[in-house]
Amino acid sequence: MTINQYSEPIPKTVFRFRHLLGIEGLLRDDIERLLDLSDVYVGANRQSDKKHSNLRGRTQINLFFENSTRTRTSFELAGKRLGADVINMSVGTSSIKKGETLIDTAMTLNAMHPDVLVVRHPDSGSVHLLAEKVNCSVINAGDGTHEHPTQALLDAVTIRRRLGHGLEGLTVAICGDIAHSRVARSNIHLLSIMGARLRAVAPPTLIPAGLDRMGVELHYDMETGLKDADIIMMLRLQTERMKGSYVPSIREYYRLYGLDNDKLKAANPNALIMHPGPMNRGVEIDSEVADDIDRSLIREQVEVGVAVRMACLEALVGTQSQPWAKNN
Ligand code: NCD
Repeated sequence: MTINQYSEPIPKTVFRFRHLLGIEGLLRDDIERLLDLSDVYVGANRQSDKKHSNLRGRTQINLFFENSTRTRTSFELAGKRLGADVINMSVGTSSIKKGETLIDTAMTLNAMHPDVLVVRHPDSGSVHLLAEKVNCSVINAGDGTHEHPTQALLDAVTIRRRLGHGLEGLTVAICGDIAHSRVARSNIHLLSIMGARLRAVAPPTLIPAGLDRMGVELHYDMETGLKDADIIMMLRLQTERMKGSYVPSIREYYRLYGLDNDKLKAANPNALIMHPGPMNRGVEIDSEVADDIDRSLIREQVEVGVAVRMACLEALVGTQSQPWAKNN
């Protein structure tokens, strides 16, 4: 199937906001439209011709104040596949006064008339601040421990595609360093909006206060936490964000919370395993589990990530409707 075969346009407005700063505050319908458009792009990315013109003439600047491999590459590829001019800016934070530089940089870039800024920054809330100062759309590619909306969207698309149905009623166990994870926070918002049952499984030191008030069941051991789970989301121990020590030792952490085939026995026999990457094998996850092609969705997450970013870019700054999206 070629992607241009449909002639009927779909409504131009896929997303009603100017920015994508987080999942919190979105409605189920907002999320579903982005997931549906992402599905179209997963198909389009499997064609040999991957180049489209929906962002032709648009300028996308990826502004990363934190190291990133997959997210930055994924956004870069997404913009290029849609025909945008994509500029990457990596900005070190070590020697600068963050607040000042963030706004200064934003104002400088704004003067160059970009259409979309994709921003990652180590401080929670910084991307919102930046979005208030510029005239273009802003996508949050991860701000501190706050939100990482495109990761939660890509996780949802990956689950939906594998299971062939929506997220309603699924039991999802989010395990590991939840306290420092923007991925967890965005996923908790998205999964609860979509009607999944949520569990947090971690040592008490890695569970942020107030999580139970967000409707999340708290578990301090893997056996009860994984019991009958349909989806297991493992998180990296984010030592770079920790001030002080949160776990007795890596060895002890792996013994109690590292996902291996033994701990997996507690889960639903068809339970699927996810990880946003980068993985620390032998810390939060065992290689055998991570590489299990039947149960691990980790590679699909990366594939779907490009499609989701294309969908978000298209939804925010696309130049045309997507006639080929109809009926796909
Ligand atoms: C995550 C992030 O940066 O928040 N990674 C990612 O975007 N692929 C999770 C992490 O760094 O552990």
